Amino acid sequence: MNKENKYRELFADLPEAVYEPLQFTGYPEEEMLQRARDWYEECERRRTTRHFSTKPVAKELIELAIATANTAPSGAHLQPWKFVAIDSPALKQTIRDVTEEEEYKTYTERMTDEWRQDLAKLGTDWVKTHITDAPWVVVLFKERYSLKEDGKKKKHYYVDESVGICAGLFISAIHHMGLSTLTHTPNPMGFLNELLKRPPNESAVLLFPVGYPSDTAQVPKIARKPLEDIVQWNDG
Ligand SMILES: Cc1cc2nc3c(=O)[nH]c(=O)nc-3n(C[C@H](O)[C@H](O)[C@H](O)COP(=O)(O)O)c2cc1C
Repeated sequence: MNKENKYRELFADLPEAVYEPLQFTGYPEEEMLQRARDWYEECERRRTTRHFSTKPVAKELIELAIATANTAPSGAHLQPWKFVAIDSPALKQTIRDVTEEEEYKTYTERMTDEWRQDLAKLGTDWVKTHITDAPWVVVLFKERYSLKEDGKKKKHYYVDESVGICAGLFISAIHHMGLSTLTHTPNPMGFLNELLKRPPNESAVLLFPVGYPSDTAQVPKIARKPLEDIVQWNDG
């Protein structure tokens, strides 16, 4: 059987893909360069913020950041992500209490010497005021698999890659609209499933406090790697 026939036979009984014209906006080359520079400079200005103001943030802004994240490409377009957006002060306090208890154990018992050395330049500790100060806490869950109607597991593809891209778009959207966030990974995060009533096929991956930075917010003075350290053009 030739290649074409083998492919056709395997896909014969499956619904045919439906195509539509691509809506694409192109720009003159000079404008492309300017847009590329502007976007780079905007991304370069983004910083992880650990000191938040308690100033309220409209729900619509959070909704738009999640909608932006939801445009991420994903393996087989299964969009294996779920967001829980929290502005309840009581719920944020509970998350902070549990997180601080676990983080204290992480910082004092679970961390290897190497991990401690890598973190020292950031000056972080187990105290997580950002969880209660920031008006919103958004938790991103990955769907490791989903459940079919007959209760069997349905496989998801490239979940970590897809959710990572989704998180990147969320962070960029928050930055672009003039807010700040912290990519937080409380360790361990399992308690968030029970607390937020999420099903067992989901795992919390990132916790994002979102809000305005406080007037006195500071960030660690760190540098990003130069391009020549992270890019190889062709075969070197
Ligand atoms: C997957 C991931 C997990 C992170 N976890 C934490 C965390 O638990 N606590 C924290 O304070 N920062 C955390 N960060 C933030 C990083 O420390 C921060 O992105 C890095 O220091 C670079 O700083 P910048 O984002 O301001 O460029 C995390 C970042 C990523 C991408």
